[in-house]
Amino acid sequence: MSGKRIFSGVQPSGNLTIGNYLGAIQQFVRLQEDGEEAFYCVVDLHAVTVPQNPEELREKTVEVAALYMACGLNPKKSTLFVQSHVPAHAELGWLLQCVARIGELNRMTQYKEKGGGKDTVNVGLYTYPVLMAADILLYQATHVPVGEDQKQHLELTRDIAERFNKQFGELFTLPEPMIGEVGARIMALDEPQKKMSKSAKNEMSRIILLDSPEMILKKIKRAVTDTENEIRYDPVRKPGISNLLSIYSLFSGESIDALERKYAGVQYGPFKNDLAEVITDSLSEIQRRYRELSREEVIASLQEGAEKASEVAEQTLRKARELFGFLPKTNQLLSEKL
Ligand code: AMP
Ligand code: TRP
Repeated sequence: MSGKRIFSGVQPSGNLTIGNYLGAIQQFVRLQEDGEEAFYCVVDLHAVTVPQNPEELREKTVEVAALYMACGLNPKKSTLFVQSHVPAHAELGWLLQCVARIGELNRMTQYKEKGGGKDTVNVGLYTYPVLMAADILLYQATHVPVGEDQKQHLELTRDIAERFNKQFGELFTLPEPMIGEVGARIMALDEPQKKMSKSAKNEMSRIILLDSPEMILKKIKRAVTDTENEIRYDPVRKPGISNLLSIYSLFSGESIDALERKYAGVQYGPFKNDLAEVITDSLSEIQRRYRELSREEVIASLQEGAEKASEVAEQTLRKARELFGFLPKTNQLLSEKL
């Protein structure tokens, strides 16, 4: 343990992919095992920035929490909870909207990629990064493990926190992003120039954590490579094979160098068969634990998690309200020292 405070979140907006696992959740588990104090959230308020079916959203929320647990997060060690169960997120989100600037939000690339700018896009999609800042700052997180795509949002979080601290008084800890070297950006199997995403149209573009061994093999066999038949890591010239090597390395723990040596002179076919087996081995363990969990157990853990999270979040929110100058609801005195 090193006195870090960890916060991260995953949206319940689809089926978790091996991109989510290798880019984020695997790091969450490692930090937990290092004994760090950690909060892992299912960010349902973020998920509704794009249309959701209410029944499915509820199911996915439980599923993501169950997968967190199946991947190795232990609710006794880390705080696992649902964002909408802690109303402080929405409230601080509003307050920070009054600190963030339009110019800053206009620069967010994820918003642009998701169709931002059109008159019909909802406002939540635009202010999404401010809510993310609120998530992190409420817990005074020192470190935020995420994939590469979230780096810009983390920079914005730091800018908002710094501005708030200058304008209203020192309150927020400035968080550091934790982005892995390999795995920070797992690419789509069908288009290795693009990030693997749980919401892309083509299901063959991703492997989800609950895929069967047959499906994993089928998807890996169809993965786009190149015509060279040489297993070498070169993300610019060989994005497909390089992505498969990263996935192989992260699941097996073997270095990319070692894999290049092991597969020197081997054709893509046998390499892909081995890779499918390596993925299947890891996922079948997660799937076994997932099947053993009951819905009741997961929901009970989330309730406990929300209580623990609320205690921390409310303290920060109370100080933020005071610094803004809001009149307390009861006649209790303002705390003497913030
Ligand atoms: P999301 O699916 O957008 O809620 O992302 C949850 C977490 O997974 C975030 O930390 C993302 O950065 C990470 N993530 C999502 N897709 C990928 C990917 N293809 N490669 C690496 N990390 C990813
Ligand atoms: N925006 C993140 C994503 O799409 C999810 C998220 C919301 C998050 N709040 C967060 C991640 C706070 C880390 C910390 O992946």
